[in-house]
Amino acid sequence: MQEANPETSESVSETFEEALRRSDAMRKDFLVHPEKYRLLTGDRPTGALHIGHYFGSLKNRVQLQELGIETFIVIADYQVLTDRDAVDRIPANVEELVLDYLSVGLKADSERTHIFCHSHVPALNQLLVPFLTLVGMGELFRNPTVKEEIEAAGLTNVNAAMYTYPVHQAADILFCKGNVVPVGRDQLPHLELTRKIARRFNRRFCKDGASVFPEPVALISEAPKILGLDGVQKMSKSRNNAVMLRATADETAELVKKAKTDAERHISYDPEKRPEVANLLELSSLCTGEAPEAIAEKIGDAGGGGLKKYLTEALNTMLAPLRLRRKELERDQKAVVQAVLKKGNSHANAVADKTLQEMRRAMNMDYGV
Ligand code: TRP
Repeated sequence: MQEANPETSESVSETFEEALRRSDAMRKDFLVHPEKYRLLTGDRPTGALHIGHYFGSLKNRVQLQELGIETFIVIADYQVLTDRDAVDRIPANVEELVLDYLSVGLKADSERTHIFCHSHVPALNQLLVPFLTLVGMGELFRNPTVKEEIEAAGLTNVNAAMYTYPVHQAADILFCKGNVVPVGRDQLPHLELTRKIARRFNRRFCKDGASVFPEPVALISEAPKILGLDGVQKMSKSRNNAVMLRATADETAELVKKAKTDAERHISYDPEKRPEVANLLELSSLCTGEAPEAIAEKIGDAGGGGLKKYLTEALNTMLAPLRLRRKELERDQKAVVQAVLKKGNSHANAVADKTLQEMRRAMNMDYGV
């Protein structure tokens, strides 16, 4: 008899270092064996994306796509329902998200890249039901990211999906047997849970060491914490400190002009004593690939003004090809987005149907087909 509580001795949380080690080992193997990997990641459609998203995740996705790795991107529209009431903004946000994806270079018209929505892949959502039996309530309540989100949103009346969406996320990843999940650090608890669900499913339902699901590995991005132009808070659209991917060159210049620096004229890279200046140097470094120290040296006595000029140019150069692609897409925006989702949803449905069938077989429930 299977124990009633699915949490066993393996429930001890792994460390960040362990996750990082696994992530780095996998990164090396991409070049040798891209065909072994299937990437799944995604975003909630809560608004347009900014350069924090770009450096933290989107750039990575495009690079992996270019290595020949099959790429699934879920637009997690059901997850939006966990922490906000309004649904009227969702369609516009979905559209904006698809445009951001295409403008950074995700090739949704290719055979290898698929962009789809939660709400349009019924079989994916069905994985959730057996998965919920593999997770303990304690595990859900302890999830640090969920706790933070509840606090940040100031929720007093928390709905059940807020606690179960990490299990839904496991369904997002496992329905296509994704084994690479590029995510920021905040998503690691969800990845750890996904790995446990895969392991527990295989152990509980598969015979003779067989398995239905792989244990996916989080690919941790190299620039996990990107601060906004204020140099204090995380970059975010709602804090008004973000450079949006869709911003024009002039808007970008305006925004950088308002960024915080300090009174010292000579520019130096000192994250401890000069966090705002250091942040602008780091952002510049992300754009150009040069070390922040080297950039500081170049700017020298040109002061905060010089630094801002440098950053504006670095951003606008980096964003130029994205803007060009976006301009083309915007000519027939609605039709483009519609076609991307139609193709992506259709492919995701075919994959999800197949996995669901395999799962039913493992659970001895493949009658009636
Ligand atoms: N939870 C993620 C977020 O809030 C979005 C997401 C949903 C996701 N499903 C996913 C990320 C699967 C990676 C893999 O941003």
